[in-house]
Amino acid sequence: MQSITITAPVTHVLDVQNLSVSRSGKVIIRDINLSIKKGEFVGLVGPNGSGKTTLILATLGILKAQSGHVSIYGHQPMSRGLNGKIGWVSQAAANLPKEIRLTVRELVRLGTLNSHNLFWRVRSEKESIDKAIKMVGLEDVQHTDIARLSGGQRQRAVIARALASNADFILLDEPLVGIDRDSRNSLLKLLDLLCHNEGKTIFMISHDLTAIRQTAHRMIYLEESIRFDGPSEDFPDLDKLADLRGIEPVHNSDGTHHDHSKEE
Ligand SMILES: Nc1ncnc2c1ncn2[C@@H]1O[C@H](COP(=O)(O)OP(=O)(O)OP(=O)(O)O)[C@@H](O)[C@H]1O
Ligand SMILES: [Mg+2]
Repeated sequence: MQSITITAPVTHVLDVQNLSVSRSGKVIIRDINLSIKKGEFVGLVGPNGSGKTTLILATLGILKAQSGHVSIYGHQPMSRGLNGKIGWVSQAAANLPKEIRLTVRELVRLGTLNSHNLFWRVRSEKESIDKAIKMVGLEDVQHTDIARLSGGQRQRAVIARALASNADFILLDEPLVGIDRDSRNSLLKLLDLLCHNEGKTIFMISHDLTAIRQTAHRMIYLEESIRFDGPSEDFPDLDKLADLRGIEPVHNSDGTHHDHSKEE
């Protein structure tokens, strides 16, 4: 007898097809194709101005696509079905204005405003806030003013705000900037645990190539288009990266000048 296997259609957390985005008439990102599955931790790297923030803003539907298609959990960006499912930690999010007097707990509570279901909110608002604060390890300072926190703690508070909405897909733009090495390492560990233990999906921009490469499962190198997308352990070293970018070597590895005339 013939057996029939029924496979459920795979709904990716994120599906981007042939996406191009222009800003002020200039093409910033071109022909982007990318899918992210549940539980993946994806690092997005590339030089300054290469379009990383643009890609994330277009993914969220904040910037309009010139062409192509984006779907998140099978929905169009910004649609109602996505309410509360997406956490966004923006570039310099931890540089919260000092003049705003807000405790960690109050900041995290702002995250729950995302939920459109009032009944759900009343019942589990406290629970969500407690859980989010615990997940980032800020129980001890939850009643402290955010202005008095260290950079790393403030970054954790901002992440807790994203978690408080029960977001499953968390996008972070440069969360490691301005924090010391220990805080950086524990923040990366926290994000890794969120993937493994809580089933969260993480898409994170970082300039800290070494750090992100050690933590993310998969790396994407963007420079107008995607030049590399694969497992972190296969991420090219600096020489190969220069190749991908079409940069010719000017120095040999021993520091002497590269002599192009000797090349075949
Ligand atoms: N509002 C805007 N109008 C026109 N061009 C813009 C606008 N914002 C950004 N750009 C340009 O788009 C390009 C990509 O910017 P984007 O912020 O996406 O880069 P990025 O990779 O995030 O850089 P960084 O690492 O510095 O954050 C840059 O050349 C930038 O000057
Ligand atoms: Mg940016």
